[in-house]
Formats: sequence, C-alpha cells, structure tokens
Amino acid sequence: MQKTRCINGKKILVGMAIVLAFAGVSHAAQQGNKSATVTIPPTPELYSSEPQPLTAVQCAQCHPGLFKNLKNEGGRHRFACQNCHNVFHAYSPRKANWDQIMPTCSSCHTAPHGAKITNCTACHANPHAPKSMASNTQLTAACYDCHGTVRDELVKYPSRHSKLPCMTCHTSHGYKPSCFNCHQPHFKGQALSTCLPCHPVHQPQNIRFSAKEPSNTCSSCHAKAYTNLAKSTSKHNALACVTCHKDKHRFIPQCTDCHGKPHTETIHDKYPKCLSCHIDVHDMPVMSKK
Ligand code: HEC
Ligand code: HEC
Ligand code: HEC
Ligand code: HEC
Ligand code: HEC
Ligand code: HEC
Ligand code: HEC
Ligand code: HEC
Ligand code: HEC
Ligand code: HEC
Ligand code: HEC
Ligand code: HEC
Repeated sequence: MQKTRCINGKKILVGMAIVLAFAGVSHAAQQGNKSATVTIPPTPELYSSEPQPLTAVQCAQCHPGLFKNLKNEGGRHRFACQNCHNVFHAYSPRKANWDQIMPTCSSCHTAPHGAKITNCTACHANPHAPKSMASNTQLTAACYDCHGTVRDELVKYPSRHSKLPCMTCHTSHGYKPSCFNCHQPHFKGQALSTCLPCHPVHQPQNIRFSAKEPSNTCSSCHAKAYTNLAKSTSKHNALACVTCHKDKHRFIPQCTDCHGKPHTETIHDKYPKCLSCHIDVHDMPVMSKK
C-alpha cells in the first residue's frame, strides 16, 4: 500500500502516512474499528530532547526589523526577548488584550526619575531603542513641580545647561553626575572639587571666584597675563589674580580701590590714567629696587 519510490524518503513517507492516517481514521471510525489501519513507523528520537526557548536571532527570522532596532540602538536592553515578552503570540483582537500581554516598564524599573514621572513611553517611545528620545522631552516640567528653584536658576542664568533635559544629567532620581562624565578639566590635574565653586552647575556661566583660587587656574586661558605677572619684578607679582579680579569673572578693579590717589592732585589731573606711567598692571616697570 505504501509508495517507497521516493528520493528523499522519510519526509514524503511520513507525509503520505499522515494523509493516509486521517483517511484511515475516518474510515475506521465509520466501521467502528478503533485500531489504526495504517502503519506509521514511530520516530521517538524527535522527542528525545526538551524544546529550547527561541533565541533572539530565531525570533528575528520573523521580526527582522525589531531585531535590527535592538541590535543598533537597544543599549542595555539587548537581552533575550522573552525577559520582557514572557507572553507573546497571544494577542487577540477579539479579546482586545494588547496592553495586557505587552511588557510593562514597572515590572523591572521602579521610578527611576522620581515618583511623579510615570509615563515612560512619552519620552522613551521605543522599548527596543530605549535611549532614543521622543521629541517632547519638555516633560521635564514634571521635575519642576518639586524642584522649582532649580528651574528658576536655569531660566535666570541662561547657559547651554539650560537647554538640556534634566535627565541628561540626572539619569536616575537623586543621581548627581560628575562634571568629568562630560567635560575635560582646564588643565591636567585640575581637581573635580574645584569646578562647582566657579561654575554652579545650574548656572555654569555665572562664574564666581573664591578668594583662594590659585593663579594657575587662570593661566590655562590667560597665558600672557600669567607669564607677565610671574616674571614681573613689581610688588604686584606677589598677588594672586583673584586678589584684584575678585568674585566674578571679567571683573576689572580700579587702581584707586587699593591705592587711592597716591600722587599730587596736579599729576592725577594731568594724567587721569595711572597706566599712562605705570604701563602694564601685570608687569609694571619698577625704578627703585629693594
Ligand atoms: C526591554 C523589554 C523588551 C525587549 C528586550 C523586547 N521587547 Fe518587544 N516590546 C516591548 C514592549 C514594552 C512592547 C510594547 C510596545 C507597544 O505597546 O507599543 C514591545 C512590542 C513588541 C512587538 C509588537 C509591536 C511591534 O512593534 O511590532 C513585537 C513584535 C516585539 N516587541 C518583538 C520583540 C522581539 C522579537 C524582541 C527580541 C528580538 C523584543 N521584542 C525584545 C519590550 C521589549
Ligand atoms: C515563525 C515566525 C515567528 C517567530 C519565529 C516569532 N514570531 Fe512573533 N509574531 C509572528 C507573527 C506572524 C506575528 C503577528 C504579526 C505581527 O505582529 O507581526 C507575531 C507577533 C508577535 C508579537 C505581538 C503580538 C503578540 O501576540 O504577542 C510579539 C510580542 C512577538 N511576536 C514576539 C515574538 C518573540 C519574542 C519571538 C521569539 C521568542 C517571536 N515573536 C518569534 C511571527 C513569529
Ligand atoms: C525585563 C525587565 C525590563 C523591562 C520590562 C524594561 N526594562 Fe529597561 N532596562 C532593564 C535592564 C536590566 C536595564 C539595564 C539596567 C542597568 O544596567 O542598570 C534597562 C535599561 C533601561 C534604560 C537605559 C538604556 C541604556 O542603554 O542605558 C532605559 C532608558 C530603560 N531601560 C527604559 C525602559 C522603559 C521605558 C521600559 C518600558 C517600555 C523598560 N525599560 C522595560 C530591564 C527592563
Ligand atoms: C521627561 C522624559 C522622560 C520620562 C517621562 C522618562 N524618562 Fe527615563 N530618561 C530620560 C532621559 C533624558 C534619560 C537619560 C538618557 C541618556 O542618558 O541619554 C533617561 C534615562 C533613563 C534610564 C537610564 C538610567 C541610567 O541609569 O542610565 C532608565 C532606566 C529610564 N530612563 C527609565 C525610565 C522609566 C522606567 C520611565 C517611566 C517611569 C522613564 N524613564 C520616564 C527621560 C525620561
Ligand atoms: C514628587 C516630587 C519630586 C519630583 C517630581 C522630582 N523630585 Fe527630585 N527629589 C524630591 C525629593 C523629596 C528629594 C529629596 C530631597 C532632599 O534630599 O533634600 C529629591 C531629590 C533629588 C535630587 C538629589 C538632591 C540632593 O541634594 O542630593 C536630585 C538631583 C533630584 N531630586 C532631581 C530630580 C529630577 C531631575 C527630577 C525630574 C526627573 C525630579 N527630581 C523629580 C522630590 C521630587
Ligand atoms: C548639566 C547637568 C545637569 C543638568 C542639565 C541639571 N542638573 Fe541638577 N545637578 C547637576 C549636578 C552635577 C548636581 C550636583 C551639584 C552639587 O553637588 O552641588 C545637581 C544637583 C541637583 C539638585 C540638588 C542640589 C540643588 O541644587 O538643589 C537638584 C534638586 C537638581 N540638580 C535638579 C535638577 C533639575 C530639576 C534639573 C532640570 C530642570 C536639573 N537638575 C538639571 C547636574 C545637572
Ligand atoms: C551629562 C553631561 C554634562 C555634565 C554631567 C555636565 N555638563 Fe557642562 N555641558 C554639557 C553640555 C552638553 C554643554 C554644552 C557644550 C557644547 O555645546 O559643546 C555643557 C556646557 C558647559 C559649560 C559652558 C556653558 C555655556 O553656556 O557655554 C560649562 C561652564 C559647563 N558645562 C560646566 C560644567 C560643570 C562645572 C559641570 C559639573 C558640575 C558640568 N558642566 C556637568 C554637558 C554636561
Ligand atoms: C577659577 C574658576 C574656574 C574653575 C575652578 C573652573 N573653571 Fe571652567 N571656566 C572658567 C572660566 C572663566 C571659563 C570661561 C568662560 C567664558 O568663556 O566666558 C570656563 C569655561 C568652562 C567651560 C566652557 C568653555 C570651554 O569650552 O572650556 C567648561 C565646560 C568648563 N569651564 C568646565 C570646567 C570644569 C569641568 C572644571 C573643573 C575641573 C572647571 N571648569 C573649573 C572658570 C573656571
Ligand atoms: C576657560 C578659559 C578661562 C579661564 C579658566 C579664565 N578665563 Fe578669564 N576670560 C576668558 C575669556 C574667553 C574671556 C573673554 C576674552 C575676551 O573677551 O577677549 C575672559 C575675560 C577675562 C577678563 C576680562 C578681560 C577684558 O578685557 O574685559 C578678566 C579680567 C579675566 N578673564 C580674568 C580671569 C581670571 C582672574 C581667571 C582665573 C581666576 C580667569 N579669567 C580664568 C576665559 C577664561
Ligand atoms: C587689589 C588691590 C590692588 C589693586 C587693584 C592695584 N594694586 Fe597696586 N599694589 C597692591 C599691593 C598690595 C601692592 C604692594 C604694596 C606693598 O607691598 O607695599 C601694590 C603695589 C603697587 C605699586 C608699587 C610697585 C612696586 O613694585 O614697588 C604700584 C606702582 C602700583 N601698585 C600701581 C598700581 C596701579 C597703577 C594699579 C592699577 C592699574 C594698581 N596698582 C592696582 C594692590 C593693588
Ligand atoms: C594688582 C591687581 C591685578 C592683579 C594681581 C592681576 N590683574 Fe589682571 N588686570 C588688572 C587691572 C587693573 C586690569 C585692567 C588693565 C587695563 O585697564 O588695561 C587687568 C586686566 C586683565 C585682563 C584683561 C586685559 C589683558 O591684559 O588681557 C586680563 C585677562 C587679566 N587682567 C588677567 C589677570 C590674570 C590671569 C592675573 C593673574 C595671573 C591677573 N590678571 C592679575 C589688575 C590685576
Ligand atoms: C605721571 C606718571 C604717573 C602717574 C600718572 C601715576 N604714577 Fe604712580 N608713580 C609714578 C612714579 C614715577 C612712581 C615712583 C616709582 C618708584 O619709586 O618705583 C610712582 C609710584 C607709585 C606707587 C608706589 C608708591 C610707593 O610709595 O611705593 C603707587 C602705589 C602708585 N604710583 C600708584 C599710582 C596710581 C594708583 C596712579 C593712578 C591713580 C598713579 N600711580 C599714577 C608715576 C605715576
């Protein structure tokens, strides 16, 4: 009854056998006969191992686009699909159960940006590319509810930090990043602890100098003033930059702040600018050497 003529034997043989089996079963049922009328050789080796979960690459055979998404932009979400999709291929329009079977962020993440920020996908629009942001990062507003003073600082002192969403720096709630995550120091060896006193982080352009700031901080940008003063024989040589340029960056003092008017009125009237004679405040010519 079996045709054994075939070239790739087993498959066709089994295929034929299944067709015949169905025919046989119905035939047998009609006759009230419970035993099979066909013979199918058992192939227990097909059942000798346990089924293995599909790997991401196997899922990708049917979902190539999503795989590519994860591969290129998945970041730290590049783990097995089933870690998130513990239920899949279970969607039924009739049951309208999409939301029910899709993974929820909260099953793995607990409020990384604080309790009030719950609408994760408003910013992280694509779970397969979690770092790519939706455009409406203005939701930063949620931080303002509780941290209004920080917003006020950022608005009052516009800088390029004011244009960054809070979460660019505060990637999780309460986390305070190091400046060095994103910036180089002005010179090799400059300590991290020095940055904030000059650059309050939410108003980094509102630069303030502490009275103890060493002059070599300035030298990285003002080499000329620094070297002139360093080699000068005048008594200004003993002064730190911030003794004169105090408190705020770009502040320029008046000579009279410290010296008053030391010469005769006639001289000061005739030469209102002290530097007409003293020439360079960072390197004054000195006549009488002590
Ligand atoms: C970090 C968790 C996470 C991982 C890992 C993940 N997914 Fe998803 N996936 C989701 C979430 C959340 C949704 C629901 C998105 C929605 O409702 O729009 C989703 C939706 C889907 C959808 C249906 C929506 C669509 O865009 O077509 C498919 C299909 C899918 N994922 C396949 C995969 C495959 C395949 C992998 C592995 C290669 C994978 N996912 C890895 C979280 C994940
Ligand atoms: C043999 C092809 C095939 C493989 C392999 C496959 N899928 Fe799917 N998957 C589909 C088809 C077809 C749909 C329905 C159409 C669609 O949404 O693209 C679907 C839909 C989905 C959905 C959305 C609807 C639902 O019911 O969940 C998710 C999530 C999903 N697949 C995840 C996976 C994951 C995870 C893997 C690997 C573990 C995987 N799929 C492997 C073909 C496949
Ligand atoms: C199955 C658990 C799981 C689910 C569900 C999940 N995540 Fe994640 N997610 C992780 C893990 C694990 C990391 C890596 C965390 C780490 O290394 O500290 C991560 C990292 C992230 C990152 C940082 C990505 C990077 O590359 O740095 C973002 C953003 C993120 N998740 C957002 C989401 C959002 C939004 C959802 C919901 C749509 C979600 N996650 C669902 C487990 C999950
Ligand atoms: C207002 C927009 C916004 C919302 C809403 C939002 N995030 Fe984020 N999230 C960000 C930004 C911006 C980052 C920083 C991305 C970067 O480092 O490039 C981030 C970073 C993350 C990270 C990475 C943290 C790390 O340690 O590197 C995780 C995880 C994360 N978000 C999860 C979530 C989850 C879960 C939700 C919902 C509860 C959520 N986010 C809601 C904007 C948002
Ligand atoms: C529901 C109110 C609330 C929201 C919304 C909120 N925070 Fe907070 N945040 C707090 C509280 C309360 C503390 C603890 C205050 C403290 O320790 O002085 C805190 C602490 C912090 C700290 C650490 C403060 C410190 O001195 O160590 C940072 C940074 C921070 N939040 C940033 C953010 C950012 C960024 C957002 C928006 C993503 C945000 N917060 C949203 C209430 C909130
Ligand atoms: C350029 C990175 C950056 C941005 C953008 C940023 N912060 Fe900060 N933030 C920091 C750093 C660094 C500190 C720690 C400062 C310190 O140690 O004194 C900090 C401290 C804080 C603190 C605790 C100290 C304080 O000043 O009250 C809060 C709260 C805070 N940030 C909230 C926010 C909010 C809300 C936003 C968005 C409106 C935001 N930050 C934007 C880097 C940033
Ligand atoms: C998450 C990254 C990040 C962190 C952390 C960070 N910054 Fe920035 N900062 C930026 C970016 C981005 C810019 C804009 C630079 C650009 O466009 O080249 C910037 C600009 C600046 C500027 C120039 C501002 C302007 O308006 O021109 C100063 C000063 C500055 N940062 C100081 C600091 C200091 C000090 C810290 C630590 C307290 C810090 N930053 C932490 C990302 C960061
Ligand atoms: C003595 C004060 C002082 C200290 C300390 C200081 N800075 Fe600055 N920083 C300045 C001044 C002044 C500028 C120039 C501002 C301008 O161009 O108007 C500047 C500019 C910057 C800029 C933007 C301009 C650029 O491209 O260089 C960044 C970023 C910056 N500083 C980061 C840092 C970091 C990080 C630290 C800590 C290692 C630090 N600063 C320590 C005074 C300081
Ligand atoms: C990161 C570089 C940087 C650092 C560090 C820096 N400055 Fe400046 N400074 C500048 C820039 C840029 C200008 C603007 C120059 C211009 O307009 O020609 C400036 C301008 C000034 C001016 C005003 C010049 C004028 O003609 O009005 C003074 C004074 C000054 N700086 C003093 C200091 C002192 C003192 C320090 C150290 C405590 C310092 N700066 C550190 C970059 C820097
Ligand atoms: C922040 C205060 C301060 C400012 C501003 C200042 N000086 Fe002086 N100056 C000093 C001090 C301190 C000495 C040393 C006095 C001593 O040791 O007796 C000094 C010394 C001098 C001397 C004596 C030089 C010597 O080596 O014998 C002259 C001349 C002088 N200053 C001129 C000026 C002129 C001109 C200006 C403005 C362009 C000026 N100073 C601005 C603090 C200042
Ligand atoms: C004795 C006070 C004094 C000290 C100390 C001093 N300056 Fe000045 N500086 C001035 C005065 C006054 C001016 C304005 C000169 C003018 O009007 O031409 C000035 C001008 C400047 C300028 C702008 C003009 C220029 O020469 O480029 C810079 C930049 C500057 N100082 C940087 C520094 C730095 C950096 C140091 C430390 C190495 C320093 N100053 C030390 C008083 C001082
Ligand atoms: C017409 C030229 C001239 C003018 C203008 C001038 N000086 Fe002098 N100043 C001198 C001479 C010359 C000396 C003596 C130098 C010496 O002894 O080394 C001197 C000395 C000084 C000394 C040192 C005094 C001491 O007792 O050691 C100070 C301080 C001083 N001048 C400050 C100023 C100040 C401040 C101004 C402007 C308000 C000014 N000078 C304007 C020429 C001038």
